[in-house]
Amino acid sequence: MKTIGVLGGTGHEGKGLAMRWAKAGYKVVIGSRDAERAKATAQAIREMIPGSSVEGSDNRGAATACEIAVLTVPYAAHKGTLEDVKAALQGKILVDVTVPLMPPKVARVQLPPEDSAAVAAQNLLGPEVKVVSAFQNLSSHLLEHVDTPIDCDVLVCGDDKDARAEAVALVKAVGARGLHGGSLANSVASEALTSVLIFINNRYKTNTAGIKFTGVPDDPVA
Ligand SMILES: NC(=O)c1ccc[n+]([C@@H]2O[C@H](COP(=O)([O-])OP(=O)(O)OC[C@H]3O[C@@H](n4cnc5c(N)ncnc54)[C@H](OP(=O)(O)O)[C@@H]3O)[C@@H](O)[C@H]2O)c1
Repeated sequence: MKTIGVLGGTGHEGKGLAMRWAKAGYKVVIGSRDAERAKATAQAIREMIPGSSVEGSDNRGAATACEIAVLTVPYAAHKGTLEDVKAALQGKILVDVTVPLMPPKVARVQLPPEDSAAVAAQNLLGPEVKVVSAFQNLSSHLLEHVDTPIDCDVLVCGDDKDARAEAVALVKAVGARGLHGGSLANSVASEALTSVLIFINNRYKTNTAGIKFTGVPDDPVA
């Protein structure tokens, strides 16, 4: 089992993913701007999931300790966090979960100059980091109850097929269905869909709207 570093893992989405990976047997290192906050989150997860291997560190420490990094910070913190961990990520996979939401109009699609946060991450980190995008359309509310399977699809986009397959396996480990969604440039579709899901959540008074594709096998080979 590989070690996963969740950068920004003290927040809603990162903590939810970390809990599910810890339950699946992965070693997890929670990252934060504040190492003490990360350690407290790690301890809370260990208490919730006895026998799990979860530690806490600052973001750079988590990026250094892990084999696969997962970025779960608000878009406003995307560039700064990546600059902080750039050196530590060289030669590794980064799964970018960031959605380029630009408050206050988060239910309206607004895209960055690079078209997507994931492409911006790849440009910033350079070719030695394999950036994959995933989980943008998976609500943190669905991750909270770690024993409940998730009836949603997760699109996984990336230019490196092997890195993409690793991320598809990580989706399966959280209990959802991961689908290869093509090149990293296609991440614009997942990132844009999140604003549509936020609109649907608001319109229909829920917080768990997600996506599901039809016409593909239930359990496709990663
Ligand atoms: N929540 C969801 O349901 C959901 C679903 C799909 C995708 N996403 C995406 O996943 C990402 C994280 O979402 P979230 O809801 O987990 O966000 P969040 O809870 O607001 O923030 C996550 C973590 O990011 C760090 N952070 C916050 N502001 C920061 C700043 N200005 N500079 C540096 N770090 C900062 C914080 O960690 P420290 O203070 O410990 O450093 C925080 O715990 C976002 O891009 C979001 O669009 C969220």
